[in-house]
Amino acid sequence: MTKTNHLWKSRWTFIMAATGSAVGLGNIWKFPYITGEYGGGAFVLVYLACILLVGIPVMMSEVMLGRAGRSDPIDSMLKLSRQSAASPGWSLVGISGVLAGMMILAFYSVVAGWALEYVWQSASGHYNGVEASAIENHFGELTSDISRQLIWHTVFIALTAGVVAAGVSKGIGAAVDTLMPTLFILMIILVAYAIFEGDFAAGAAFLFTPDFSKLSGETILVALGHAFFTLSLGMGAIMVYGSYMPSGGNIGTTVLLIAFFDTAIALLAGLAIFPIVFSNGLQPGAGPGLMFVTLPLAFNSLPAGNLMGTIFFALVSIAALSSSISLIEPGVAWLEKHRIPRLASTLALALTGWAGGALCIHYGSVFDFLDYVTANIMLPLGGLLIAIFTGWILSPDRVKNEIGFKSFRMHKIWLWIIRVVAPAGIVLIFANSLGLI
Ligand code: PHE
Repeated sequence: MTKTNHLWKSRWTFIMAATGSAVGLGNIWKFPYITGEYGGGAFVLVYLACILLVGIPVMMSEVMLGRAGRSDPIDSMLKLSRQSAASPGWSLVGISGVLAGMMILAFYSVVAGWALEYVWQSASGHYNGVEASAIENHFGELTSDISRQLIWHTVFIALTAGVVAAGVSKGIGAAVDTLMPTLFILMIILVAYAIFEGDFAAGAAFLFTPDFSKLSGETILVALGHAFFTLSLGMGAIMVYGSYMPSGGNIGTTVLLIAFFDTAIALLAGLAIFPIVFSNGLQPGAGPGLMFVTLPLAFNSLPAGNLMGTIFFALVSIAALSSSISLIEPGVAWLEKHRIPRLASTLALALTGWAGGALCIHYGSVFDFLDYVTANIMLPLGGLLIAIFTGWILSPDRVKNEIGFKSFRMHKIWLWIIRVVAPAGIVLIFANSLGLI
C-alpha cells in the first residue's frame, strides 16, 4: 500500500472515523448499565466532568501525537521521544495500548455478538407481545448458551477482520460516513418513544439528579475509566487514527465535535432506556443485560416494531464494528510497519481476540476482569502518560505548532489542563480508589 492510502480523504472522514471508534457499545450498552449500577445522577455528573476536564484535552493530545509521529502508536512514541531526547521507554504507552486493545476486543466482541443475536431475534418477531420477565429470561438463556455466543462472537470477529484487512480509508472510512447519522436518528426516535410511553420523569430524574451520598472512590474511578473507554482514549486508537489525518487543520474543534457526538449518544441512550426501566418495574442496576431487556420492550409496542428493532440492533452492531476495528488497528499498523502484510497482521490479531473472547464466554470472571482492568486501570494510565509526555517532554514550541489552536488563550488553557489538571486528577482518583487519600 502506498502512503496516500493511509490518509483519510478529508478532515470530515477523520471525524466520522474517530466518532465511529468512540460511539459504540460503550455508549449504548455500557453507559446506561454502569450508570444504573453506580446510582444515577452523581455518577453521570462525575463522568461528564471527566469527559470535559480529562477526556477532551487528552484526546487532543492523542490526535496530535499521532499526527506528529505519523506512525503506529509504538513507533510514533519512539520517534517523538527520540526527537525530544527522552527515554525510548515512552514507547511502552504504545505497547500497553496494543495490549489493551486486544483485551478490550475479547469481551467487546462477545457483547457485540449478543447484539447480532438480537438483530436476528427482532427480525423473526421473537419478542412480539412478550413481557419484561420473558425478555429477561431470554437474555439469561443467551448468556448461558456457550455455543450460540461462540457463533455470534466468531461472526463479529470475522466482520472486524474483514474491514481492517480492507484498509483504512476504504474499509473504515467508507463504512462510517452514512451509518453514524442513521444511528443518531434512531436514538432520537427511541427517546421520543420513552417520552410518550415510558416514565420519562423518573428516568430523567434518575440520570440528572445527583445524590452525592452515592459517590465512593470506586464510583469516581469507574466514571473516569468510562470517560476513557467511551472516547477510545489511552490505548492508541485515536493516535493511530490521528496519524492518518491530513496535516494542518485545527485539532481542538475537531475533537470537541467528536466528544459532543459521543456524549450525546450516551445521554440519549440513557434517556431512552431508563424511562422504560421505571415504567416496567425493572431494576436500573440490573447489570449488563439492561439494554438487551429494555429496548425490545420499547420496540414491542412501537408501530413496525420488528423492523425498527431489527434496524436498531443492526446499527448497534455496526457501531460496535466501527469501534472494534479501532481496537486492532494500532497493532495491525505496528505489524505492518514491521513488514508483515496487512492481511496476515489482521488475521493474527483477530485470532488472538477471538481466543480471548472464547475465554470470556466460558468464564464470566475473565470477562469481568478484562473489562475492569482495561477501563479502570490501563486506559487512564495510558492517558496519564500521554498527558505528561505532551505537557512536559515534547518541546513546547513543537506542541504549539502541532496542536494548532487559533486562539492563544485556548492554547494556554489546554496546556495547563494537560500539564496539571488532567495528570493530577487521574493520580488523585487512583489514590482515592486505593484508599490512600
Ligand atoms: N469507545 C468504544 C465504545 O464506547 C470502545 C473503545 C475503547 C474503542 C477503546 C476503541 C478503544 O464502544
